[in-house]
Amino acid sequence: MFDRKHNCLVVVGAQWGDEGKGKLVDVLAESADLVVRYQGGANAGHTVVVGDRQFVLHQIPSGILHPQAICIVGNGVVLDPETFFAECDQLEAQGIAVAGRLFVSDRAHVVLPFHQLLDQASEKQQQIGTTGRGIGPAYEDKIGRRGVRVADLIRGTGARDLLVTRIERANALLAMLGATVRADLAEHLELAERLGARLRPLATDTGLLVHRAVRDGRRVLLEGAQGALLDIDHGTYPFVTSSSTTAGGAAIGAGIGPTAIDGVLGVVKAYTTRVGNGPLPTEVGGELEGRLRALGHEFGATTGRPRRCGWFDATVVRYSVRVNGLTGLAVTKLDVLDTFAEIPVGVSYQLDGDDCHEFPSDVELLERVQPVYEVLPGWECSLAGARRLADLPAQARAYLDRLQDLAGAPIRYVSVGTRRDQIIEV
Ligand code: IMP
Repeated sequence: MFDRKHNCLVVVGAQWGDEGKGKLVDVLAESADLVVRYQGGANAGHTVVVGDRQFVLHQIPSGILHPQAICIVGNGVVLDPETFFAECDQLEAQGIAVAGRLFVSDRAHVVLPFHQLLDQASEKQQQIGTTGRGIGPAYEDKIGRRGVRVADLIRGTGARDLLVTRIERANALLAMLGATVRADLAEHLELAERLGARLRPLATDTGLLVHRAVRDGRRVLLEGAQGALLDIDHGTYPFVTSSSTTAGGAAIGAGIGPTAIDGVLGVVKAYTTRVGNGPLPTEVGGELEGRLRALGHEFGATTGRPRRCGWFDATVVRYSVRVNGLTGLAVTKLDVLDTFAEIPVGVSYQLDGDDCHEFPSDVELLERVQPVYEVLPGWECSLAGARRLADLPAQARAYLDRLQDLAGAPIRYVSVGTRRDQIIEV
């Protein structure tokens, strides 16, 4: 079901992550030639249900479940090699052939155990609610020009000198942060040697592979992780992740020019969720939030943390349409709202008594905004069997129409369940 209008399509999360990108990419990857992860790392958790089997992918592109798709971990990803290979082994054990169709950019930076120690130690002070996977410290090292790249690990003993200085620095930082744990050089050297050898046959200039595929008119999917509101520039800073989760990050992180991209699909839940700290203006609270969480199985795929739940926030999605240049929307989990008699939708904000139509940059303002709700009638029946727009009850279609109007981008897909076939192409 590849989006036929596009040859190089970016799929991004248009809220705070966990929108169901994994399922969308899996569905679209059925006829894709190349699927590329371009940012983030093991903080992501993309869940894909195939028949009665569930796969949770953290670093490997969701396209891996389609045998014809070549999968790439691009230069913009921070790769945790230990968990990456654990994921490869798990897929192979589940009968998914990975060898020969998975490549890793030699420019990608690696996340090492000391990054995780630093993440966990910093978190005690900063309280962002990170996943603890070392993502922030690895990107800090990258931007600070002291990162360790896949190219260093595969050089054999090349990483040794680098690691000596990195571990010294990490231990000084850990002491400064008041942590009692220390990074162990011998452990890092062993890991670098063992996993460097395993990475060697997979590592290549993946930007060149993506470039050639685009040039030759093959179908390329660029798979984003997290969501626009967690973007380092455009998200609810400082409660964000450390990468460019918006579509602009796709070109950089896949190693191609922006003109190669010809479509951007934003995935949105029919409501809103967020894991970790920071503002969530339409957060529901109380028993109703518990109901939404239980119905939507809103627990983190990576950390198991309960997700905070809120109603659809059109100010967020409108903003997301703008900063991502979305050409279409995929609305997921519409079926989760099946039992609600009335469904509030946040159409705009009020700030200190004034209308506020644009998403504020300052989290202090965001904490103070009051959503303005419009209450739409629910459909109170199961959508699980709907396969065409015409199968949806009038209230569900009206709900989608209203979301589309408020968001300002056309809805292209609607997902009504976890299974591959539970999707409507609009
Ligand atoms: P980090 O990416 O682990 O540094 O976490 C920073 C923020 O991003 C925290 O609020 C996390 O909960 C959130 N986050 C990171 N990855 C994901 C994801 O895949 N889905 C949803 N939230 C995420």
